[in-house]
This record gives sequence, structure tokens and C-alpha cells, in this order.
Amino acid sequence: MSDNQDTSEPGEIHGLWSSQFAFVLAATGSAVGLGNIWKFPYITGQNGGGAFVLVYLFCILLIGIPVLMCEVLIGRRGRRSPAESVKRLAQEAGAKPAWQAIGWFGVLAGFLILTFYVVIAGWAVAYVYFTATGRFSGATGEEVGAFFGAFTGDASKLLTWGTLVLIGTMIIVGNGVQKGLERAVRFMMPGMLGLLLVMVGYAMNTGEFAHGMKFLFQPDFSALTANGVLVALGHAFFTLSLASGAMLTYGAYLPKDASITRTVVFVAIADTVVALLAGMAIFPIVFSNGLEPGAGPGLIFVTLPIAFGQMPYGTIFGTLFFTMLSLAAITSAISLIEPAVAWLVERTRLSRVRACVISGVAVWVFSLGTVFSFNHWSELTVSGKTFFDALDYLTANIMLPLGGLFVCIFTAWILSTKVTREELALGDSPVYSVWLFTIRFLAPAAILIVFLNAVGILNFDS
Ligand code: TRP
Repeated sequence: MSDNQDTSEPGEIHGLWSSQFAFVLAATGSAVGLGNIWKFPYITGQNGGGAFVLVYLFCILLIGIPVLMCEVLIGRRGRRSPAESVKRLAQEAGAKPAWQAIGWFGVLAGFLILTFYVVIAGWAVAYVYFTATGRFSGATGEEVGAFFGAFTGDASKLLTWGTLVLIGTMIIVGNGVQKGLERAVRFMMPGMLGLLLVMVGYAMNTGEFAHGMKFLFQPDFSALTANGVLVALGHAFFTLSLASGAMLTYGAYLPKDASITRTVVFVAIADTVVALLAGMAIFPIVFSNGLEPGAGPGLIFVTLPIAFGQMPYGTIFGTLFFTMLSLAAITSAISLIEPAVAWLVERTRLSRVRACVISGVAVWVFSLGTVFSFNHWSELTVSGKTFFDALDYLTANIMLPLGGLFVCIFTAWILSTKVTREELALGDSPVYSVWLFTIRFLAPAAILIVFLNAVGILNFDS
């Protein structure tokens, strides 16, 4: 062991990944999810396309990747649940244990995200059933849209499917993350990629592929607002599962000899490729069917079924696609609750199973708010936002960027460069200096500027 104060053996409490590859699978499983295939296309549609995508890519590169490195580093050094790891590192650095609040804040964000995540994952699972039973064969855009409206309008259906997802997730987490997860991700990732390529192939034949590509990749900055920039930043955090303790917790199970930089870069690339492919599949379908790119959270559910209803073997492709989407969602949902469960196990005398039951029930109760946002409470809005919209905004656009800011500050200014150098093991490579400069100055400044600009304290627009 090195001369740090890590007195516990790695994996003493929670176990370790079997290899670096297992960590990459799990981290990719966490990152790739509804955020890539459901959320990225609809927020891109709502924020005008190309310019938004460009800003999003910048955020991934400039902020997402460096912060992801920070989180994995803290986790691996601390070997505990988020708050405990941060506390141990703060103590090692001679700083106040209050820094552990970063961990708390992240666990809370993850919990809140999960309360809506399970509901949307429920849609994906329901759509496996709908496509498999041929519900969309030959359906027009209008019919598919009406079907989606009726489905989300029925609270009991959303509740049933959401509950199913939640129970499934908690069973996996209860059995320990390592076992089920590795296997699920191993076949899900190539499958997802293959099916997305099929969808892009379909999109190429819609006659509107060029239009879709232009929308995605030709920046029109007049379409982008200050708020849109914040949404792009928030989504960079969301899609990489940052600032919620998820990656930090997974880092805690990472073997000492694994390369943090290499694994992190791989995860970020895989995540970005999936999101862009989803966009390339969806927007041509939007335009060729006269749909609205800014249609909102239902976007993939009102576009993709049209394609499945029309293409050869659409029932099979559709069923497979929504199955993959459901799996991708579940491997992400696992990472949203794992930090809370890890903490309960560490801190109380509860067994892993009991800890899962308690967290699961809590998530279920709060998920009702999102379920009702699409039906009974759809008229109940605060400045145009339903409960779901508000929860999404609060978590992705406020809590995650702020949490990320503190992760940066803690890693850059509290931890010694000796510790970070040792963990990243980059030797004399300039990559270390670039990373350090980024998390010391660039990323915090960018987060603050985007944030303050969007809330209107600094208004560069006027
Ligand atoms: N990244 C996942 C997605 O894009 C969602 C997710 C998993 C997440 N864990 C997270 C988002 C932690 C924020 C924080 O679907």
C-alpha cells in the first residue's frame, strides 16, 4: 500500500469490481440511459438544435470529463459511500469534515432524480409490451401521438409500470450491484448500438435525413437562450451521472491499478455516441411526419413507434429497441439508488435488503408526484412547470451543476496535488496539468457564469 492514510483494505466493506473492464461496463451502464435516448433528443428539440448540441459537447469535454475524473478519484481513494469518502479525504488533507455535505447533496439529487426516472423507465417497459403486441403496426403519426396521450393520461397505468421498474431495480440492488450489472451491460451496450444503427438506417430513408442532420449539427445561435445553455450544462452532468455520488460510489469499487483517465474517457465517448445516434434517428422521423421537435418529454414515444409501425420487421426491431432502452434505464436507475443504499448499509445495522426496501418505498411515494404530473395534476403548474418539469429543472439544472462545482473546488483546492497525482497516475504527462488547470479555473468559472447568467444575475443577453 502507498503511504496515504487509507487504513482499510480496498473493498473491505463493499467489495470490488472484478476488473477495470467491469468498472467500465458499470460506469457506462450508469451513464447511458434515458438521458441519452429520451432526454437528449427532446431537450435538443426544445432548445433549437445545433447550437445547443455544440454547447452540450463543449460541456462534456470541458466540464463533464474532468469532473468525472474527480469523482472516480475521490471514490477510489475514499473507498466508501460518497459522504464518507469525501469526509475521509478531507481529514487526510487536514480540512473540515463538513465537506462531506457534497456527498449528502449528491445522494439527495440522485434520490430525487430516481423518483421521476422510474416513471419514465416505466414508459419504456410499457412500450416493449405495446410494440410486441403489434399496437403500432401501420399507425400514423397522429394515432401514435393520441395513443401516447391516452397512455400518460392514465395514472394507474403509469403507476403500475413505474412500480414494476422500481421493484426490478431494488431486487438487483438488493443482490449487490456487481453480479447482475456486469452481465446486463455486457450484452446491452452492443445491442443498443446495433439497434440505434438500424434506426439511423431507417431515418436515412425518410427523405428528411439531411433536414434532421442540419437541425442537429448546424448551429444557429439565435435559437439558443441563456437558459438553454444552462440546460445543456445540466444535461452534461445528468448524462454522465455526475454530482450525485453515483460515479463516486462506483469509483470506490475500482481496483487500485486501473487507469482512471482512460476509463473515464471511454465512458464519455460511449455516452456521447449513443446520444448523437439517438438524435440522428429521431429528428428525420420528426420532420418527415410533420411533428414538432419541441414536443417535450414524449418525443421518442411519438416518433419511434411510427418508424417501427412502417419498417419491415418493425415489430421485432421495436420490441428489441424498447427492451434495450428499458435495460439501459435500469442499469442507470441502479446507480441512482446505490449511493443511498451503500450509505444505509454503512451507517446502520440494516441489511442490504432492508436498506433497499426502505429506499424503494421512499422513492415510490415521491414518484407519485411525477405520475400525476401527466394526468391529474397536469394543470397544476408553477410558472408553466408541472411537478415533473420542476423536479427535472431543480435536479438537472440547479443541483447537479452546483454539486459539480463543489466537487471541482474540493478536488482542486482542498486535496493535495500529491494525492490527485498519485490517484490519476499520469506521471509527468501534460494531461495532468491540463486537468488540474481545468478543475481549478475553467470548469468552476464556466459553471458559475452559465448558472448566474441563466438565473439572470449576470445578464449577457441584454
Ligand atoms: N446518466 C443516466 C442517463 O443519462 C442517468 C443517471 C444515472 C444519472 N445516474 C445518475 C443522472 C446520477 C444524474 C445523476 O440516463
